[in-house]
Amino acid sequence: MNKNITIKDFRNHKKAKSKFACLTAYDASLTKLMSEAGVELILVGDSLGMVVQGHDSTIPVSMEDLLYHLRCVKRGNSGSHLMADMPFMSYATEKLAYDNAMRLMQAGANSIKVEGGEWILKTTELLSERGIPVCAHLGLTPQSINRLGGYYVQGRDIEDKNRILSEAKQLEDAGAELILLECIPAILTEEISQTLKIPTIGIGAGVSTDGQIMVCYDAIGAYSWESQPKFVKNFMDDADSIFDAFKNYVSEVKNLKFPSVKNSF
Ligand code: KIV
Repeated sequence: MNKNITIKDFRNHKKAKSKFACLTAYDASLTKLMSEAGVELILVGDSLGMVVQGHDSTIPVSMEDLLYHLRCVKRGNSGSHLMADMPFMSYATEKLAYDNAMRLMQAGANSIKVEGGEWILKTTELLSERGIPVCAHLGLTPQSINRLGGYYVQGRDIEDKNRILSEAKQLEDAGAELILLECIPAILTEEISQTLKIPTIGIGAGVSTDGQIMVCYDAIGAYSWESQPKFVKNFMDDADSIFDAFKNYVSEVKNLKFPSVKNSF
């Protein structure tokens, strides 16, 4: 990839009803391969706590960890949009959110991602007013795992469904540039994506989002899971190299072949 991908490109995808491919990354080598394979958005996710550090949740990840991996990814990147996750409690207050978002942007992020609904409205507004593109993460929010009680599909009952839909709209109004939807029923994703003007990104959320994302190791069969989750596909199955697997992932996302019904809830 040689052109620098910006938030405007994701808006254009939404307008054109075309899809964009996203992956997580934590190091320079895989970043180089995925960026050259056409992955438009690379997330330095706090999933690094699980897939790189071997923890059983994302909660132990610190700002220093995130900054270290962001710098590694930046060195391997060739034009993909770099999004950085804000780790657990790094945006618990407005002051923390300002200070930590600033550190991530100064280290090379093009946008930041925060988990939560109503309680992150003010933070979303403040950061976006100051020029920081915010992606709000709804549905299964792994930093709240102790409150949720496990990694379950969210938004199945009517109350939860209405809450997620309403929070997505409020976050858009507060200035969020993107909404990431994790592990929610495909039918709810469709309603959210049709209602919002801003682009959506999905993982385990069906085919109706504008972008799709997967943990990079999951896409190449290096699972950290005991069994392969429904929303994961091993792109090495039909590839001779990791580069080809990433290219196949991009192509399947763009041609609506991934995720299929069997990857959705
Ligand atoms: O941290 C992460 O990798 C994520 C993705 C699962 C979307 O938030």
